[in-house]
Amino acid sequence: MLEELKRFEAEVDTALKGVKDPEGLEQLRLRFLGRKGRINEFFKRLGRLPVEERPKVGKILNQLKARIESTIASRRSELKEQEVPRIDLTLPGRMGWVGHPNPLSLVIDEIIDFFVGLGFTVEFGPEIETDWYNFEALNIPPYHPSREMFSSFYLGDELLLRSHTSPVQIRVMERKGVPIRFIAPGPVYRVDKFDATHSPFFYQIEGLYVDQEVSFAELKGDLEAFAKHIFGESVRVRFFPSYFPFTEPSAEMSISCPICQGKGCRVCGDSGWLEILGCGMVHPNVFKSVGIDPDRYQGYAFGLGAERIAMIKYIIGDIRLFYENDFRFLDQFR
Ligand code: PHE
Repeated sequence: MLEELKRFEAEVDTALKGVKDPEGLEQLRLRFLGRKGRINEFFKRLGRLPVEERPKVGKILNQLKARIESTIASRRSELKEQEVPRIDLTLPGRMGWVGHPNPLSLVIDEIIDFFVGLGFTVEFGPEIETDWYNFEALNIPPYHPSREMFSSFYLGDELLLRSHTSPVQIRVMERKGVPIRFIAPGPVYRVDKFDATHSPFFYQIEGLYVDQEVSFAELKGDLEAFAKHIFGESVRVRFFPSYFPFTEPSAEMSISCPICQGKGCRVCGDSGWLEILGCGMVHPNVFKSVGIDPDRYQGYAFGLGAERIAMIKYIIGDIRLFYENDFRFLDQFR
């Protein structure tokens, strides 16, 4: 029987070494140590051995059993270790997350770049304005009907969230005098609904150019060059009369629809034209309110909505997308 045990031991060693997975190991455990397993068979045969041999063989058998148990236990933890970190080396790595500008910032930067190229500087004004800067200095007295265009957010009687960037015209002329040439980007506020095409908060870019010989022809030339810079050389522009209290004459500029090339489509409402900005020659009363002689100086001014430019340029159908920070939208503009 001792011979047999030796052979069994060798058999156990090879089998345990060769096992590849936890299921195979469990099979072997049952075969060797189970109730009807080989070790128990040997124990049963122990009773039939001569009495003198029993203690010796019994001891060997017990040692063998203990050894098989511990080998199985260590094989089990080995197999587990091999199994846990299954690394898929073909997976792409995780990139560090790098942010990028909102499409609105891209468009504002592009507009700034164009006007800086024409010699304009960039100026800023406060978002909380007084009635004087937002209205009166811009030739909009109290009860003037055009105040209705600017249904505004008031903070008490005197202060309001600015309803346009035009007050920056006044502030900069006061601070720096004339001649002056600048654009002023920034947020403005109006009581309005919040839907696909309206927002109570949006970005405007104001432009002002004042000198002794500024003509309407320059206004047209500069704004046409601006439109071509943003929307491409093939874009055409159209000016038509309008009204703003702070410019005279006043105009609005449209561009030929860059989506359908002016043939008419859903974006331009089949008209072939898209209105993109208001403009005009600075009204003499505006110069007077900052102590500048309107007989010596003229200027042109314009104001545009940055969202509108971005929506036309990138064919974006809903103004709310700019503010919602949905990566599925923003990531299209890296
Ligand atoms: N401030 C005007 C508006 O918000 C735009 C404008 C600016 C028009 C400058 C003419 C000159 O609608």
